[in-house]
Amino acid sequence: MPFPKPTRRSWAEPWKIKMVEPIRLTTRAERLERIREAGYNTFLLRSEDVYIDLLTDSGTNAMSDRQWAGLMLGDEAYAGSRNFYHLWENINHYYGYKYIVPTHQGRAAEHILSKALIHEGDIIPGNMYFTTTRLHQELAGGTFVDVIIDEAHDPRNEHPFKGNVDLQKLQRVIDEAGPGKIPYVCLAGTVNMAGGQPQSMANLRAVRELCNRYSIPIVLDATRAVENAYFIQQREPGYESKKVAKILEEYCSYTDTSTMSAKKDALVNIGGWLATNDEGLYQEARNLVVVYEGLHTYGGLAGRDMEAMARGIVESVDDDHIRTRVGQVEYLGRHLIDWEIPIVRPIGGHAVFLDARAFYPQIPQTQYPAQALAANLYVDSGVRSMERGIVSAGRDPKSHEERKPSLELVRLTIPRRVYTQAHMDVVAESVLEVYAERAQARGLKMTYEPKYLRFFQARFDLADAATGAKVA
Ligand code: F0G
Repeated sequence: MPFPKPTRRSWAEPWKIKMVEPIRLTTRAERLERIREAGYNTFLLRSEDVYIDLLTDSGTNAMSDRQWAGLMLGDEAYAGSRNFYHLWENINHYYGYKYIVPTHQGRAAEHILSKALIHEGDIIPGNMYFTTTRLHQELAGGTFVDVIIDEAHDPRNEHPFKGNVDLQKLQRVIDEAGPGKIPYVCLAGTVNMAGGQPQSMANLRAVRELCNRYSIPIVLDATRAVENAYFIQQREPGYESKKVAKILEEYCSYTDTSTMSAKKDALVNIGGWLATNDEGLYQEARNLVVVYEGLHTYGGLAGRDMEAMARGIVESVDDDHIRTRVGQVEYLGRHLIDWEIPIVRPIGGHAVFLDARAFYPQIPQTQYPAQALAANLYVDSGVRSMERGIVSAGRDPKSHEERKPSLELVRLTIPRRVYTQAHMDVVAESVLEVYAERAQARGLKMTYEPKYLRFFQARFDLADAATGAKVA
């Protein structure tokens, strides 16, 4: 018999596993009990009751042996730690910013940035909101205005750069508010709430030109900028043979400042920074960090954490790493697309987003369809996901009305270097099962609503609880 010719050549991760952490699959009855106790909020589950944890890619990364070795080299000096200078060098080398202030995570950098730059009544345009970013802008007296392209709000639209800014929308905001009322334009690449969608280099360059005309600075949320650089390499003409590290450097070069949650791209469990080329902002941030985080050479982190981050940055821009990282997300998303399950297209960089409106057209948005879908997925298989819809969007600070985003999504977020292809298969099959049972799904009502970032701690019950109907 002739030897069969291979029809495909698979890729595999550029690492092998040296240490494992056991996980446990509970029974369906146990999971029903647990989700009820958690008020149908996956944030309120205990991690030991979760089988495959796709709540977030934030701080859930597996560190490499080199990062763990770096922990032993922590210089735990209060001031001037060796690891701080190593971190500074690497941020400067790969992201290109001149001045660095470490913070314990991304929102701490957002807090300091907002305090330093935003005044009462200011307008901050951006390519779709992020929960913590917008809240810090609002707490500082600013108002966020969305200037992302319309395609980003349509889960089925296949635009390759749904993170792009609509330049006409931005121009309109500048004309209406006046450039003096805009302390900066706030960009993110990739855009988390749009489904992990990238912004193109050409679009950022055009935003830069527009902002230059009015001397408006650009602040980049660089949390997943390496993933953004990878999409530019894959999708934007002229970048196909460039290294991701070089693309990242160019991308950041069109911005003045960045805030960073290093818990994502940079492959650590805790850490972040504010980095800038603006010396005045640096002086102010260096001052504020002492009030809220710690001295400017540790910003709420241990020396060992900064060393792990410095090393993680180098690993994060490696082309083989980023290809397999985004490739694993693509692998899960492809399964679901092949089974005609409604997800946000194109598949994002850090997560697959289920379109809860398309799953559950019978549940009105005011009964939290994405929240119900996340609960049902957990009950089916112990897979933990997260709501990214009306609950996450919260209330308008002035009218106190619930904001009703057009995207009503459940995020299956893939931690970096943590799960295998077999885990992805289990997840895909569970989503298929929940999709098959979609007609029986019921909505929820909120029984406890926290004042800030309500999605983290809100509690729910079945909307028709009095009738005894089941959510799953
Ligand atoms: N910006 C983006 C785009 C983020 O995704 C996050 C966090 C932050 C800022 C805030 O950073 O958590 O370190 O304070 N996102 C997490 C998530 C929580 O699950 O998407 P942080």
